[in-house]
Amino acid sequence: MKVLVINGPNLSRLDIRDSSIYGDLSYPQLVNLIESAASSHGFTADVRQSDDEAEIISWLHEAADNSYPVIINPAAFTHYSYAIRDAAELVKSPLIEVHLSNPLAREEFRHTSVISGVANGTIGGFGPNSYALAMSALKALL
Ligand code: DQA
Repeated sequence: MKVLVINGPNLSRLDIRDSSIYGDLSYPQLVNLIESAASSHGFTADVRQSDDEAEIISWLHEAADNSYPVIINPAAFTHYSYAIRDAAELVKSPLIEVHLSNPLAREEFRHTSVISGVANGTIGGFGPNSYALAMSALKALL
C-alpha cells in the first residue's frame, strides 16, 4: 500500500537548520529513512516536500481522491494554515501529523497546531524516528 508522506516548508534544508533541534540528517538521508521504515511495515512511501501551501493542499486533495493514507509534517504551516487543515480534513484514510522536534517544548507560537484536530494522532520529538513511529501507528490503524 502506498503512503503519501508530505513534508512542508524548509524541511528540504535540514542540512543548514539548527542541528541541536532537527538533528544531523540531511533531507535526502531523512527520505531514505522514511522509505526504509515504510518498506519494513509493508508500505511504499511516496515522499514529497514543498514550501508552497497550494501544492501541499493539492497533494492532500490527491490523497483524498485516491484514499491514500498520509503522514504529514506541515512544518511552520502546522501553526497557522487553516487551508491545510481543511484539506487534511478531506482525507478519510488515516492521517498522522509528525514533527522532528517537540513543538510543545519550544517557542509559544509552536504550541498551537491547527492540524492536530483533523489528524488521527500526532508524533513529535523523536527526530527522524517520529516518521518510523508514524509508520508503525499507521500499520496498526489500517
Ligand atoms: C517542525 C516543527 C515546526 O514548528 C517548524 O516550523 C518546522 C519543523 C518539526 O518537524 O519539528 O519547520 O514541524
